[in-house]
Amino acid sequence: MTEERVFREGLEGVVAAQTHLSHVDGLKGELLIAGYPVEELAQHAGYEEVAYLLWHGALPDESQLSDFRRRLATRRALPEATLELIRIAAERKVAPMDALRMAAGTLDLDGQPDPREQAADVVARFPTIVAAYARLRSGRQPLQPDPELGHAANYLYMLHGAAPSPAQTRALESYLNTVVDHGLNASTFTARIIISTDSDIVSAIVGAIGALKGPRHGGAPGPALDMVFEIGEPQNAEPYLRAKLQRGERLMGFGHRVYKVRDPRAEVLSAAAARLYEQNEQIDGDQTLYELARHVEEQAVRLLAEFKPGRNLQTNVEFYTALLLHGLGLSTDLFSPTFAIGRAPGWIAHCFEQQRHGRLIRPTSEYVGERGRQWIALERR
Ligand code: ACO
Repeated sequence: MTEERVFREGLEGVVAAQTHLSHVDGLKGELLIAGYPVEELAQHAGYEEVAYLLWHGALPDESQLSDFRRRLATRRALPEATLELIRIAAERKVAPMDALRMAAGTLDLDGQPDPREQAADVVARFPTIVAAYARLRSGRQPLQPDPELGHAANYLYMLHGAAPSPAQTRALESYLNTVVDHGLNASTFTARIIISTDSDIVSAIVGAIGALKGPRHGGAPGPALDMVFEIGEPQNAEPYLRAKLQRGERLMGFGHRVYKVRDPRAEVLSAAAARLYEQNEQIDGDQTLYELARHVEEQAVRLLAEFKPGRNLQTNVEFYTALLLHGLGLSTDLFSPTFAIGRAPGWIAHCFEQQRHGRLIRPTSEYVGERGRQWIALERR
């Protein structure tokens, strides 16, 4: 009996792992993180609580949470070699996402063999790397992390040099919690493949950053906001978007492999961005920008239905990510590295899960090339 082999381009619909970590229902527009609706965690949880939940399977009690917070807070400082590399990257003006990928690769230089310790180092140090890079490339010195601040607040502090307001911290925590995990997305799958070979956490994370960087995954929020800025005024939205679609270009922040309705994360982040913008205490954003973005979204969804009927192209997580992070004073090229900061605990939780249960991930390919060719000596070709 021959084994049935089915080829699915892009592995669409193929189940390649069982997970307790998150569940995406693309038709209902639902996302569960370790059993909790994303809306609950986004609103109520701190970043450390969600990371703990993914790594331990249950929310921490008070003493577990304060131990976990301390564990991360005491590891934030960067090793000298990592800082040196960041300085060189900043001198050469490499893209921040590439700087993060390079710097992440140095996080096991101390030869720490315990995967749990490597995991804590990665999560604790990602914000320090991104903030140090952001400051160095604009000619400022990196700031030392503040162990009294939580993970999200300390990131904003290290970027801007001032402790954020509670509303700003809440907005960032909502964002980080919203993107912490999302089924078998491309970067998570990459991490699971790497760890399935018995490789190490740092290697898996470096690979995941590489996968996240592309505009069809985590590289879209910067271009999504650039598009809103280029549009500038509500009356320009329709002609601008129509022209883009007529040229065959993709609208960044729209469409998703799994969601055929509005991405629930877009809902959560649009509400979080609205709250932040209303407070009007953000560094660089205002209510007009928020209203313009809503108008652009409306027009984009309408035009996508006209140009790509039957494709159900809706707003994805990246559109409101852009607006929210802009409201927190981040430049567009820091959006993807900040996504990586949020997703890191999810990648690591998948690595742990893969290590516990998984076999080597090794699918097969269907050969569609030529057969029966005969060797031709070099001088006769
Ligand atoms: N704008 C215009 N057309 C689009 C868009 C878009 N944003 N998204 C998909 N399409 C079209 C494609 O051109 C294609 O049309 P065709 O069949 O006429 O050629 C059709 O819809 C299906 O597209 P695929 O690429 O096959 O769909 P896939 O499931 O692979 O794409 C993806 C998902 C990559 C997210 C896509 O929608 C896209 O490129 N969006 C823009 C980039 C973006 O927002 N990325 C962030 C994704 S969210 C995340 O990963 C965190």
